[in-house]
Amino acid sequence: MLTSFATHAELEEALLGCDRCPLRRDAIGPTSYNGAIDSPLVIVGEGPGGVEDEYGVPLVGPSGQLLDKALASVGVTRDRVYVSNILKCRPKGNRTPTVDEGRFCAMNWLDGEMALVRPKVIVALGSVALKYLMGPDARITKDRGRWFETKYGVPAMATYHPAYLLRLTGQDVVKAKWEVFYDLKAAVERCRELAPGYELASAEKPDLLAMYEGRRLERRGGR
Ligand code: URA
Repeated sequence: MLTSFATHAELEEALLGCDRCPLRRDAIGPTSYNGAIDSPLVIVGEGPGGVEDEYGVPLVGPSGQLLDKALASVGVTRDRVYVSNILKCRPKGNRTPTVDEGRFCAMNWLDGEMALVRPKVIVALGSVALKYLMGPDARITKDRGRWFETKYGVPAMATYHPAYLLRLTGQDVVKAKWEVFYDLKAAVERCRELAPGYELASAEKPDLLAMYEGRRLERRGGR
């Protein structure tokens, strides 16, 4: 199923025209990636929500904003990591995608992205990303915070999805946020060991919504 691409531009052009599964029908369009295509650190989320569907890029809505804060706490800015999703099209009503939907989409697109980026470390956000990268029997509560080897030959660690943190309250959210902090810290440390020359933060925090405003307007026009 994997089609290989010589460049991200080629991959993105094919991806934006994808209608290989029914999820495409209910979305504004497929969303692609954002960040640095040469980054040793890749973050893989679940799939686009409403804001991402509008902007055409992953993790720029409420979950993305919480992710940005968590990354800042470990010295990372979004322009220095590569961020993508398992699913490229938003499932109707924002429902959780099935394992099969995730596998189909990721084998079509994420695998090709990983062949181009060739990261040193992958962070899986939440259960859908973990199940694709580790296996369908993986469980986020049991397997987060543990290193595993992906089929790309790249070490990966899962942590809680920011949308899960946004749903928690009281002591539960405090505990889960610390766990995410330590998971991300471990991933960054491993990344620094494996790619010592790479700067994971730039001086200014990028404004992702401003950066992709043109794409949002284009997508709105195409509806
Ligand atoms: N949740 C994700 O996992 N990815 C997005 O792009 C948005 C919300």
